[in-house]
Amino acid sequence: MLYNTCSIRDKAEQKVFNRLQNFKKAGKDKIFGVLGCVAQQEGEKIFDRAPHVSLVCGSASYPKFGEMLVQLEAGNRHVTGLSIDTEETFDTPFTRRDNPHRAYITIIEGCDKSCAYCVVPFTRGPERSRTSASVMDEARRLAAEGYSEIQLLGQNVNSYRDPSAAGWDFATLLARVAEIDGIRRVRYTTSHPRDFVKAIVDAMDANPVLCDHVHLPVQSGSTKVLAAMDRLYTRDEYMRRIDWLKNAKRRYSLTTDIIVGFPGETEDDFQKTLDLLDQVQYDSLFSFKYSPRPNTSALQMEDRVAEEEKQRRLAILQEKQRAIQIRRNAELIGEIREVLVEGRNHALGQWIGRGSDHRTINFTHPENGGESLVGRYLHVRVTRSGPNSLVGESASVV
Ligand code: 5AD
Ligand code: SF4
Repeated sequence: MLYNTCSIRDKAEQKVFNRLQNFKKAGKDKIFGVLGCVAQQEGEKIFDRAPHVSLVCGSASYPKFGEMLVQLEAGNRHVTGLSIDTEETFDTPFTRRDNPHRAYITIIEGCDKSCAYCVVPFTRGPERSRTSASVMDEARRLAAEGYSEIQLLGQNVNSYRDPSAAGWDFATLLARVAEIDGIRRVRYTTSHPRDFVKAIVDAMDANPVLCDHVHLPVQSGSTKVLAAMDRLYTRDEYMRRIDWLKNAKRRYSLTTDIIVGFPGETEDDFQKTLDLLDQVQYDSLFSFKYSPRPNTSALQMEDRVAEEEKQRRLAILQEKQRAIQIRRNAELIGEIREVLVEGRNHALGQWIGRGSDHRTINFTHPENGGESLVGRYLHVRVTRSGPNSLVGESASVV
C-alpha cells in the first residue's frame, strides 16, 4: 500500500499518522510505503512512529523507485529515498491517466524561491527542468493517443529553463506545445508573478490553443506583507502583470491564491487585500488561513494573528469574492462559448463542460440516441449563471 501525502498546509503530519493507523487495521499482510512531502519532511521518524511502514520516499527520489521496490521484495523493511540533492526529474514513460482527454505533464520540479510560509523548497528540493525534447515527445505521444488538452505543471513553471543546448524558456515551450497537431487546449500552473514575463502573454495572444486563463497567485494585497513573505514583488509590480493581461488581445480569466493572517498582517493590510480583489476582479480564487510549517522562516516571526481572527478575515474575503463572481458570471449570459465536454449529470439531465477560461458550464443537449458527448468540443449558449458555474444549452449542430 503506497500512501501519497501532501504537507503544504495544516497539520498534515498528524493526519498522516492517524490514517496510517487505520490502514494498518485494514491492510493485514500488506507492505506499507509513505510517499510525497510528509515522507520527505518526517523522514525516518515515520519508522519510529509507525513501525508497520517499510518504505519512506520523497518525490525527489521517485526515479529510484524501481530499485526501492526490489529492496522491499528482497525483505528489507527499512527502505528510504530521502535525498533532495538531485539533478534528476521524474521522467517516466508510464503515467496512469484517468481522464482520457486531458493529460498533465510535469515540466519542472522543485522551487528555488524561499517564500517565508512555504514548505515546498524543503520537501521538493531545488528546481530541475526537463529537456524540451522530452516534454515535446511526451506531448506528441499524448496527442497521437487522442488527448486534446495538455496541462503543463510545476511549482513555478515560469522559471522553466531547458537544460539542453536548445535552451528554451517557458514562453517558447508553451508556444511549441500549442503547435502540436491534435492539441486543442494547453494550460499551465503554477506561475510566480516575479517570473511571469510579458513574453508569456505574447505567446498566449498569438495562439488561442493557449487557454484564456491565467492563475497568478498574489498571496496578499499589501506590499508590506509581500515583503515579509519574501515574495520578491510589490503590489504595483503585480498589478503591472495584471495590466498586461487586461490589455491583451483576448479576455483572460484571472485566478489567484490568497493567504490571510500571515504574521504581522494588520487590519489595514487585510483591507489592502480586499481592495486588490475589487481592483483585479478575479474570476475565482483559492484562499487559505496562514498555517505554520516546519523549517520555514515565518515560524520565527512575531505578531501572530489569532485563529478566530484568521477565520473572520477568511470569511470576509470569501464573501467579497463570491459577490464578484456572481456579478462577473452574470455578464456572460447570452454568450456562445466552446466547451470541452467532461461528464454527465444524469440526475439533472445535463452535460458538464469546461470553457477555455476554465469555467464550468452545465448544459442541455438534444437527445442524440444515448451517444456520449464526453471528450467532444461543442458550442454552448449561456442561459443562467451562479457564483461558481454557468448553465447553458447546446448551440452546436451535431
Ligand atoms: N499557509 C497557508 N497557505 C499556504 N500556501 C502555501 N503554504 C501555505 C501556508 N503555510 C498556499 C499559497 C500557495 C498555495 C498552493 O497554498 O497560497 O499559493
Ligand atoms: Fe512555495 Fe511557490 Fe514560494 Fe516556491 S514560489 S516557495 S512553491 S509559494
